[in-house]
Amino acid sequence: MPGVRVEKLCTDPELYIIRVDDDQIKYFEAAWYIPEGITYNSYILKLDNAVVLFDTTKAEYTDIFLEALRGIVDPKEITHIIVHHTEPDHSGALPKILEENGYRAQVIGTAFARNLLQGFYGEKVVENFKVVKDGEELKIGGKTFRFITVPWLHWPDTMITYVVEDKLIFSCDAGGGYSIPETIDDSDEEVVRRYLPYVAKYIVTVIGHYHKYIVQNINKLKNLGIVEEARMILPGHGLAWCKNPKRIFEYYESVGAGVPEKDKVLVIYDSMYGFVERRIEIVLDELKKLGKKPVVYRFTDKEAPAVSDILGEIPSAEALVIGASTYEAEIHPRIRYTLYEIVDKANYEKPVLIVGAFGWGGVAGRKIETIITRSKFDHVATVESKGYPSREDEEKLREAVRKLVEWIG
Ligand SMILES: Cc1cc2nc3c(=O)[nH]c(=O)nc-3n(C[C@H](O)[C@H](O)[C@H](O)COP(=O)(O)O)c2cc1C
Ligand SMILES: [Fe+2]
Ligand SMILES: [Fe+2]
Repeated sequence: MPGVRVEKLCTDPELYIIRVDDDQIKYFEAAWYIPEGITYNSYILKLDNAVVLFDTTKAEYTDIFLEALRGIVDPKEITHIIVHHTEPDHSGALPKILEENGYRAQVIGTAFARNLLQGFYGEKVVENFKVVKDGEELKIGGKTFRFITVPWLHWPDTMITYVVEDKLIFSCDAGGGYSIPETIDDSDEEVVRRYLPYVAKYIVTVIGHYHKYIVQNINKLKNLGIVEEARMILPGHGLAWCKNPKRIFEYYESVGAGVPEKDKVLVIYDSMYGFVERRIEIVLDELKKLGKKPVVYRFTDKEAPAVSDILGEIPSAEALVIGASTYEAEIHPRIRYTLYEIVDKANYEKPVLIVGAFGWGGVAGRKIETIITRSKFDHVATVESKGYPSREDEEKLREAVRKLVEWIG
């Protein structure tokens, strides 16, 4: 069973985090391999004559969540439950919590959220539902709660809450990341440094399909002035941001915009018997000669990296090299799937060099070229040839690498 961590984040106002550390999960959304795990964060704010619960947890962890919750407050005393986003990693425990609560609490969310909750859990859960609009404010326990919609971060139902007097942003998926950090908040720089790559992996795999909305929504929050003045940013996954709150949204912006790390070139390839690999060795040699720092992921008969890890590397790459063999008149299946996910989840304006090897009729290179040309990526060159690379092939590969590096500028 996962552990549950409960900590007081501040005493004025009285704020708690209930963090379920899911070390049992293997594939988030049944798709993304996360041996590092994930946390589901929920928050309790105790005010004068009001107890507010912000989001819940995954259904299978309802019992341990309720036990932790009872340590802070009698569930019957909860007066409001704010549902920022209805994906069941945050809403799964809601029906049971409402039952324990005797349906006293008002549930607050967008009209979209109401509709989704009703679809997931039935009419009873939305009987006492208050629909809020973008920018709407409610007075709860003497404080001003402002609700701001952030559509597609991660679903169309999604909003954040800003508690005006205390400058607290409750942001659910926005600002979240994978893994189970040792600390609750960002006070330890070493923990933050280890955690951030898991944030990039989370952003691309979960929200990547909508990544233009990341920049759009964060700009919206910035323009409202609340990011600058926030005392804490409290996401639904991973670290709570108390020391340097705006750092997490700045990181989200840079991943959303695909801001590259200097000299990082991501090289992804398959090789069944070593022919693509020989070509990639030439590419790597030339890249290094030109001062680049390649990061390599390869599919061979001995290893198969997780596509989720590859996706997480893309926003910070300056350029991509994709190597593939032709397999039954197609792109090798591993690269076929990886590429499908890349153009869906991590579709950025970055230069791409394609390297192919075939036995009797090259198909992979051309097919990859078609996919890349139709995406936001810039196609720099395709170098595809038969069997073991000849001297001439080698020269073409080196020249293509030089062209790629020139393209990066
Ligand atoms: C299962 C399988 C299917 C293949 N299908 C094709 C094909 O349709 N067309 C082709 O030209 N070569 C085909 N080949 C040959 C490979 O593309 C070629 O040997 C290439 O150099 C492999 O590079 P690698 O050793 O790096 O995987 C196939 C090879 C295998 C093992
Ligand atoms: Fe989500
Ligand atoms: Fe989530």
